[in-house]
Amino acid sequence: MHTKIKCLALTTLLLSSSASLFAVDLTKAYDMPEATKMIEKDLFPAAKKFTMPKSCNLSDPKAIARGAFMFNNLNGKKAKGKLPEGLDKFVKKTGKDGKVTKKPKQYGNCIACHDIEGSKGAGNIGPSLVGYKAMFIDTKVRDAQFVYQKIADPRVDNANTHMTVNLTTGLFNEQEICDYTAYVVSDKTKK
Ligand code: HEC
Repeated sequence: MHTKIKCLALTTLLLSSSASLFAVDLTKAYDMPEATKMIEKDLFPAAKKFTMPKSCNLSDPKAIARGAFMFNNLNGKKAKGKLPEGLDKFVKKTGKDGKVTKKPKQYGNCIACHDIEGSKGAGNIGPSLVGYKAMFIDTKVRDAQFVYQKIADPRVDNANTHMTVNLTTGLFNEQEICDYTAYVVSDKTKK
């Protein structure tokens, strides 16, 4: 009986000492910053509803021209053709060190997924937008508000969309979403 207790005490001693040998306190071995803020910053923002601003002038030929240019081009560096009024090819960016550099402006490159009048090498991930005005706007199946919301944040009426999110993400501003909308709903039959 006595030896049994001695044995148990020895085992307990061995176990506890080995536990403290292997259980290294990792909190001291690594720098562990609070990561919540970093993760939140990288999270994709939730789907958001937008109302087309009254300032959207859908029949303005300059807005339509800007929409067409951004629709058909990837960025300001690679863009072909005459730059429409009110659009930049490059934007100024201030780095962390305060240095100002010029970066090519990002455009929608909608042509990668959508066919449209006069397109060259359009993709077919999204539906063709050829004849959009006659097919959807004139028939009142869709309106400009629908198109504006679709471009701003397509997830509102299609949670599993494969289309890019353009306004919620800050990729483009309200004026630019207006320009895209103006181009999509414009009459492209008479040229
Ligand atoms: C990565 C592919 C992709 C890109 C890039 C893309 N779209 Fe789409 N788009 C889609 C898909 C897929 C749909 C159909 C699903 C949906 O409606 O969400 C769609 C739907 C639409 C519709 C709705 C058509 C209708 O009436 O049902 C419009 C308008 C539209 N896109 C315009 C644009 C514009 C303008 C751009 C550029 C800023 C653009 N898309 C960029 C994939 C894309």
